[in-house]
Amino acid sequence: MTAILHDSAHAKINLYLHVTGRRPDGYHLLDSLAVFAGAADRLAVHPAEGAPGAVTLEITGPFGAGLVAESDSNLILRAARLLRAAATADVPDRLPPLRIVLDKRLPVASGIGGGSADAAAALRLLLRAWPDLRVPRDRLMVLAAELGADVPVCVEQAAARMGGVGDVLDPAPELPACGMMLVNCGEAVPTPSVFRSRAAVFHPPAALSAGWADVGAMVRDLSALTNDLEDAACAICPAIRTVLQVLAAAPGCRLARMSGSGATCFALFDSAQAARDACVAVERPGWWVWAGGLHGEERSAQTGGTVGRA
Ligand code: C5P
Repeated sequence: MTAILHDSAHAKINLYLHVTGRRPDGYHLLDSLAVFAGAADRLAVHPAEGAPGAVTLEITGPFGAGLVAESDSNLILRAARLLRAAATADVPDRLPPLRIVLDKRLPVASGIGGGSADAAAALRLLLRAWPDLRVPRDRLMVLAAELGADVPVCVEQAAARMGGVGDVLDPAPELPACGMMLVNCGEAVPTPSVFRSRAAVFHPPAALSAGWADVGAMVRDLSALTNDLEDAACAICPAIRTVLQVLAAAPGCRLARMSGSGATCFALFDSAQAARDACVAVERPGWWVWAGGLHGEERSAQTGGTVGRA
């Protein structure tokens, strides 16, 4: 491999999230509609010196400080180890050594699947950098699920209905173009604590229509649904309530809700421009604010991007 390969790891937003049950191993069964925002971490894979199949990681970017690249729990390096282990006998000797550079632009432990999206992007990039591996898609999705419940949906980075523990994917309803704002108050919220402290109430899966012609119709249906982790996350991090109030009051906001296990909250707007126009009303010291469109709409809808910072 001689060229440098690039990919983006987009933020995953749960438009609603119902906890439908609990497995004997403690993992929760979910029903959620996940979409991907234009906001993303960036990954690059560089040729490197070293033993065949060796992968090192360097982390840069506004949210990279404090992340330990060599940590055993780092999902990018775990993704590399899993892929190498999946290779047939002689292949590992033919895998060129690589250096992955992660430009961390999304807040960490924040309910938008940043770590999962990074792991999924690493899987995609490593399959390009190591074409000898030839991992079929089914196997790739199994490996992704081993890395985390949210990783399979991040492999495709396309809107999907998530079932199971998040790893069972079904097609999403037809979505209208819309604008989105993401706001994080600057506090990391650990996912296991939120699941542990939530009230043991279960919610049936939502009955969704096959599609929404416009943002109004989508918001009408989503308003009847909830993020079942919101109360537990707000108890751990009360600033989430403030973020939700500020978002709901922003001009043009159609719906404000928390994503995943928090603390990041999102708001839906009629267009990417409407979302960007509302940023000045939302920005506060210490808050990360992003506005734009959904991933895939971005190129036509947006030239800017991150308007706020940590
Ligand atoms: O799968 P992942 O490592 O992302 O999950 C982190 C933690 O979140 C799990 O250890 C578990 O405590 C909790 N979790 C859960 N049910 C899910 C997903 C995550 O209880 N469906």
